[in-house]
Amino acid sequence: MAETLNLAILGYGKMGRTIAQLAPQRGCEVRLIMDIDVNTGGAGITPQNFKGIDVCIEFTEPKAVLENIRRIAGVGCNTIVGTTGWHDRLDEVHKIVDASGIGLVYAANFSIGVNLFYQVARAAAETFARFPMYDPYLTEAHHKFKKDAPSGTALEIKRQVQPAFKEREIPVSCTRAGNIPGVHELGFDSEADTVIVRHTARSRQGFAEGALYSARWVVGKKGLFNFADILGQGDTAAPKT
Ligand SMILES: NC(=O)c1ccc[n+]([C@@H]2O[C@H](COP(=O)([O-])OP(=O)(O)OC[C@H]3O[C@@H](n4cnc5c(N)ncnc54)[C@H](OP(=O)(O)O)[C@@H]3O)[C@@H](O)[C@H]2O)c1
Repeated sequence: MAETLNLAILGYGKMGRTIAQLAPQRGCEVRLIMDIDVNTGGAGITPQNFKGIDVCIEFTEPKAVLENIRRIAGVGCNTIVGTTGWHDRLDEVHKIVDASGIGLVYAANFSIGVNLFYQVARAAAETFARFPMYDPYLTEAHHKFKKDAPSGTALEIKRQVQPAFKEREIPVSCTRAGNIPGVHELGFDSEADTVIVRHTARSRQGFAEGALYSARWVVGKKGLFNFADILGQGDTAAPKT
């Protein structure tokens, strides 16, 4: 039986709550929960509050995440970052992580299915790019409260498949409505037909599983890691989604 992992959860919204609910079933104890009320501008991230915390899991919002990462690095706590909308500042975060000596795992999407989808999408793009009658496109749909658009996942799919199409820019369209946990589609359209590769999240549990798996994996690690790269490499069993 693996040792209990002591967690801090930063951001107690839809994802923070899902993770807190699942954590005890995955051998984790949530010792600290901080939402905006106690952590405006990262003010709650102090050595005293983080005493005894093994890993911090951050699911807040794009405008809060950089300062949170800076302060978490400052208290020397290994971290999982699920917040999206900041990956254009990856170089800056890389420097913060390296200078502090912490381990940080990030992902636009912590679902196993989506990370496998990236591989399928790359293979599909390489296949269809050989046939110029097919135009590639991406669509994504999320609940009406999601703050960033396109989603980090759509941007990651685009990053993975765009090289196959070289100068042909892949269009991305976004929908924000209702309670949709997340749908991503990569399509190829020709005069004759349409081929679609689609991922549909049924709930937030898949994201929470991946975040908790990463939390156990990052213990004792230093450096910046992407979830897709660590998936299946750890000394724990792959997450059960
Ligand atoms: N990587 C993945 O697998 C994945 C999956 C789902 C979602 N996400 C991303 O994760 C983030 C959170 O998603 P969500 O659905 O949980 O959003 P949410 O329901 O809006 O929750 C975010 C929470 O963070 C709080 N917050 C804002 N600034 C904070 C700060 N400085 N310190 C502590 N808490 C703070 C917010 O408080 P207020 O609302 O009061 O401001 C809110 O309660 C988003 O960026 C989303 O795109 C990623």
